[in-house]
Amino acid sequence: SIVSRKYRTAYHFQAPKNWINDPNGPMYYNGIYHSFYQYNPNGSIWGDIIWGHSVSTDLVNWIAVEPALEKDSPGDILGCWTGSATILPGNIPVIIYTGGDIDDRQVQNVVLPKNLSDPYLREWIKPGNNPVLQPVGPGFNESQFRDPTTGWIGPDGLWRIAIGAEVNGYSAAVLYKSEDFLNWTRVDHPLYSSNTTNMWECPDFFAVLPGNKGGLDLSVPIPNGAKHVLKVSLDSRDKYFIGVYDLKRDAFEPDTVEDDRRLWLKIDYGNCYAAKSFFDSKNGRRIIWGWANESDSDADDIAKGWAGIYAMARTIWLDNDGKQLLQWPVEEVETLRRNEINHQGLELNKGDLFEIEGIDTAQADVEIDFELTSIDDAEPFDPSWLVDPEKQCREAGASVHGGIGPFGLVVLASGDMKEHTDVHFRVYKSEQKYMILMCSDLGRSSVRPGLYTPAYGGFFEFDLEKEKKISLRTLIDRSAVESFGGGGRLCIIARVYPVALVDERVHLYAFNNGSTTVRVPQLKAWSMATAQVNVKKG
Ligand code: FRU
Repeated sequence: SIVSRKYRTAYHFQAPKNWINDPNGPMYYNGIYHSFYQYNPNGSIWGDIIWGHSVSTDLVNWIAVEPALEKDSPGDILGCWTGSATILPGNIPVIIYTGGDIDDRQVQNVVLPKNLSDPYLREWIKPGNNPVLQPVGPGFNESQFRDPTTGWIGPDGLWRIAIGAEVNGYSAAVLYKSEDFLNWTRVDHPLYSSNTTNMWECPDFFAVLPGNKGGLDLSVPIPNGAKHVLKVSLDSRDKYFIGVYDLKRDAFEPDTVEDDRRLWLKIDYGNCYAAKSFFDSKNGRRIIWGWANESDSDADDIAKGWAGIYAMARTIWLDNDGKQLLQWPVEEVETLRRNEINHQGLELNKGDLFEIEGIDTAQADVEIDFELTSIDDAEPFDPSWLVDPEKQCREAGASVHGGIGPFGLVVLASGDMKEHTDVHFRVYKSEQKYMILMCSDLGRSSVRPGLYTPAYGGFFEFDLEKEKKISLRTLIDRSAVESFGGGGRLCIIARVYPVALVDERVHLYAFNNGSTTVRVPQLKAWSMATAQVNVKKG
């Protein structure tokens, strides 16, 4: 239908049709990027899960091939759930994934490519060893044991993987060792665990070098000076710890852990879950992508015939002082940019709304820098806000005047402004430094009823003396609005369904509602071409 077509993203990854959730086993192998994904072949709500499969040479255009895994063996008859890919010595890819087995337990299975000379690796073989891991042993819960990570090599030359599990009521990333990826032994302690949360889904464990955009390959020993990141999925978000991987203890030690898990750092502060990273040996970078679910109803998804997209593939690295991860859309996305428009030296006074024209405002890439004319009016920061930035965004919406900010972008706006999605910043003074609240407010994103329309948000530290410009990049893609604040310090992806997208033309603005004037030294925007995402040409 027209509705389904208008909301369908033009360059964010999705399946040809039907439901998708977690990204699975992303990898680069012999010139090809592989995206496997949790897929319902029979409809657009969760169920009957197998592994869909698409291939790409640029992470932007994708060709759908046949499903990689079907639920056709005792170890996965109830579903082929989330898993990861590892490149073994001799350049052999292997996948380990969770199966819902014939006894309704969660077990781990391995598959290998049938034919390594098929560039697309279309067929995967289930060896007789499956399942290679079962939820047996002290403290295990048979239905809370899933989502194995990519393997990494330990100092003893053995492979390690971690699996999300509930053990004795704790949430844990359980650790296993193997020489051949088929025979595994459980290490007597987890990689890391915590008693504060529900089961950790989709753990991701990788190494990073502070301030170094280059990624690290886990299939070879990790260089000195590296830090490690453990990402886990819970409470509808991907949260992570930065720390060290203690090789002697064979365990992860976070640098800091807040007792209140609402304070844990997030990969994305919006609608993003089950993110998984991989090392891209072609470009020497680490790439992460996550799943952005629909924010409409099941009935809407059935009517649309599809549900679920992925955030853009993002390069991910550690900042200079090792405190947080930074992310930026892979540069290949820029090949979609068309008819650049460019504004310099704009000034936005309180109440100003500057329309950005001359591009396709339903499919766009916008980069805008903001410079403050004064910091005298910055309101004091209250650390208690950190536990619930969404509340802060809701209460201090774009129309609520502040000292410094809100300023930012109004996207996907109807002509009468009854519909609009606001991405904005507010600047607060906190002792020695400044704290920036970034929001993606969906409160007025659509006049349609029955949608999930939160005000997503998060805080990041900013050294205004040193950095001056606060940057915002927003990828607008029909029902997706994906924003990167402060050069990738804070990311928010949101799903919106404005009626104006179906019925009329949508508008794009830069705005300032704060009492302090902000300058826009540079604003660039592009139309984004429609990529070939699992659809036939023409
Ligand atoms: C996360 C998750 C995983 C599981 C998969 C099933 O979204 O629940 O834990 O393996 O989805 O589709």
